[in-house]
Amino acid sequence: MSKLSGNNSPPGSPRENPDQNSESNLLPKDDSALESVVRRLQDSMSVGKRHTFWETQPVGQFKDVGNTSLPEGPIEAPVPLSEVKQEPYNLPSAYEWTTCDMDSEEICNEVYSLLKNNYVEDEENMFRFNYSKEFLRWALRPPGYYRSWHIGVRAKTSKKLVAFITGIPARIRVRDEIVKMAEINFLCVHKKLRSKRLAPVMIKEVTRRVHLEDIWQAAYTAGVILPTPITTSQYWHRSLNPKKLIDVGFSRLGARMTMSRTIKLYKLSDSPATPGFRKMELRDVPAVTRLLRNYQHQFAVAPDFDENDVEHWLLPTESVVDSYVVDTPETHEITDFCSFYTLPSTILGNPNHSILKAAYSYYNVSTKTPLLQLMNDALIVAKQKDFDVFNALDVMHNDTFLKELKFGPGDGQLHYYLYNYRLRQALRPSEVSLVLL
Ligand SMILES: CC(C)(COP(=O)(O)OP(=O)(O)OC[C@H]1O[C@@H](n2cnc3c(N)ncnc32)[C@H](O)[C@@H]1OP(=O)(O)O)[C@@H](O)C(=O)NCCC(=O)NCCS
Repeated sequence: MSKLSGNNSPPGSPRENPDQNSESNLLPKDDSALESVVRRLQDSMSVGKRHTFWETQPVGQFKDVGNTSLPEGPIEAPVPLSEVKQEPYNLPSAYEWTTCDMDSEEICNEVYSLLKNNYVEDEENMFRFNYSKEFLRWALRPPGYYRSWHIGVRAKTSKKLVAFITGIPARIRVRDEIVKMAEINFLCVHKKLRSKRLAPVMIKEVTRRVHLEDIWQAAYTAGVILPTPITTSQYWHRSLNPKKLIDVGFSRLGARMTMSRTIKLYKLSDSPATPGFRKMELRDVPAVTRLLRNYQHQFAVAPDFDENDVEHWLLPTESVVDSYVVDTPETHEITDFCSFYTLPSTILGNPNHSILKAAYSYYNVSTKTPLLQLMNDALIVAKQKDFDVFNALDVMHNDTFLKELKFGPGDGQLHYYLYNYRLRQALRPSEVSLVLL
């Protein structure tokens, strides 16, 4: 979860030059900015802090950072499946494991409520992710998913769902190797059960169930620093509805900016500029798959999507994922596509607004249409769909359009991790083309 930086004069202010926003925005200009700098310093010092759980796991350890003599690849070899622990890990006696069947309306509701009330918040507790039920079903049931990887914890007496963690299968290419992995997500412990070391048990249990499917690696992201990120990316935010964003405290009016000038600054055209820009359809799956596969070659870490994956992850699903292609007039060649997913946040304690509607940039590929123009069209359709803000990480080639399209840097960082796979050196975010939901 992330917001425009504490001192986020919107791009363009105070010098009214939209291209000069980022560096000045990162310098402390007021108390909250100073706090954020101190926080970052503390964060970076957590590299020296003990991680009693993560130090026992096959992950890159802080003590090995800079040791380029260690080989790239799996840290531990797989063991025969018969040697994988067959029973679940022990939970504190008042709790029990449950497998969450996301096909069930009732269970999906329970998961939705747990996350809605207890999942990720920004550092100032103003916003909390509010993944929709349709989104959770989409995120957790890709081709080949395992129901056993959707893991809940219930209180034995009340049967209340109090914790959750999930995995989904994925093929992820790391440099030249395509590695079968689990993507781990939605780790959540009820607020009343925090700091009781439940998270390590949940992580060990999902790992055990992943091993039972003969899969030995995983990918995950987190806002916290753990041993050891393969890259650290930053969130950028493009205001679509600046008045609401300012009203709810997501962003602030820049110095010497008025509301009406701010609204004008972020105004977009009414309709996309690219001829042939249209919603993606089922018949586009082969062309989009080809475009994406070609594009992904240039990155060090990227998912290996086939047509089934593209159909699942990119074919538009109402209020979940939107994708657009450029269908060249006359030739009908598909030359480019862009996509974003829908992830609203609950606005905590605001009398006038309860939901922040956010679009998150997903996978975008340009071969003919300049990426800048393609993404400007994405902003236009997101605005038409009434999103308040369009978010993007500085992964892939995103840094080539962020400043120019008036995105401002957020206060949130997202660290990427691999489990049981070592990289000799950390990557730049622009070498990574993986977006986890
Ligand atoms: C993340 C969360 C489940 C951790 O639970 P907790 O009760 O705070 O922490 P616990 O006492 O159970 O466990 C602490 C251990 O988990 C690790 N941990 C904490 N957050 C983690 C994360 N997001 N991913 C992996 N490990 C994490 C800690 O580093 C610590 O291990 P260490 O001693 O080796 O460093 C909980 O804080 C939560 O639900 N937060 C809101 C949702 C959220 O942020 N989810 C993670 C999204 S990436």
